[in-house]
Amino acid sequence: MVVITAFSCSVIPPCLLLTATISVSVLFCGEGAVSMALHGKSHSGGKDDPVVQYVVSHSLREHPILANLKERTLQDKWSVMLVDTEQAQFMGNLMKLIKAKKTLEIGMYTGYNALNMALSIPENGTVVACELENDYVEIARPFFKEAGVESKIDVRIQPAMQTLDELIAAGEAGTFDFAFIDADKLNYDGYYERSLQLVRKGGIVAIDNVLWSGRVVNPAADDLVSQALDALNKKLHKDERIDLSMLTMGDGLTLAFKR
Ligand SMILES: C[S@@+](CC[C@H](N)C(=O)[O-])C[C@H]1O[C@@H](n2cnc3c(N)ncnc32)[C@H](O)[C@@H]1O
Repeated sequence: MVVITAFSCSVIPPCLLLTATISVSVLFCGEGAVSMALHGKSHSGGKDDPVVQYVVSHSLREHPILANLKERTLQDKWSVMLVDTEQAQFMGNLMKLIKAKKTLEIGMYTGYNALNMALSIPENGTVVACELENDYVEIARPFFKEAGVESKIDVRIQPAMQTLDELIAAGEAGTFDFAFIDADKLNYDGYYERSLQLVRKGGIVAIDNVLWSGRVVNPAADDLVSQALDALNKKLHKDERIDLSMLTMGDGLTLAFKR
């Protein structure tokens, strides 16, 4: 059942109410995400941080349709969930570096990073994008079309775990180049294990919000999300199947390079 005491959000996004098993695991809009967005993200309160603004004004090269999608997303009441834009750009550069063709977006929301992925891979590349909420997908689709990458993005509107299991059952293990995990936090471990199966050797599993506004440093006894993220961070530190970097960008981004 939902344990709301661990969070400061007074309203739960509709997508959480649609989740098959409603539990704390689906609550990703906790205080951590909110305060991170207010203080850290360049497209929200981060504009008050001169260093963040310096980074943005000296490095962000946003595709015009990504900029339009960001503007549209900022009208949504859950825009706090939007990926950090310079982080998306960084991941796009990583995808180009490893010549990624087949990618996975786990938690698509209004599609900013799915579009970013589609723009970063070749014409014959694919993005499999997992999302629960059709309303978000409807926001995303016109932007995918306008950018001319609609046919590259295969949106699966169902629980992400189901999509990942279906991909594995269909024999697609070892065929993906890049995966980005950004959905419900208590399922991260399951997403990580499946993503690691799905990416090839040398492929990358990127994991968002691994710092959870710093709460992972000393998780409170009733803060199950911070505890889960901390446990995953500790597990990855010892995981011999990967090489690893944890970046302080955005709300914390882990890069797991499959050995
Ligand atoms: C932080 S947002 C993703 C932001 C997105 N990566 C971007 O580029 O802006 C998390 C998304 O995960 C979705 N989500 C939550 N639980 C899910 C689940 N079990 N399966 C699929 N999507 C889920 C939510 O509806 C929400 O849109």
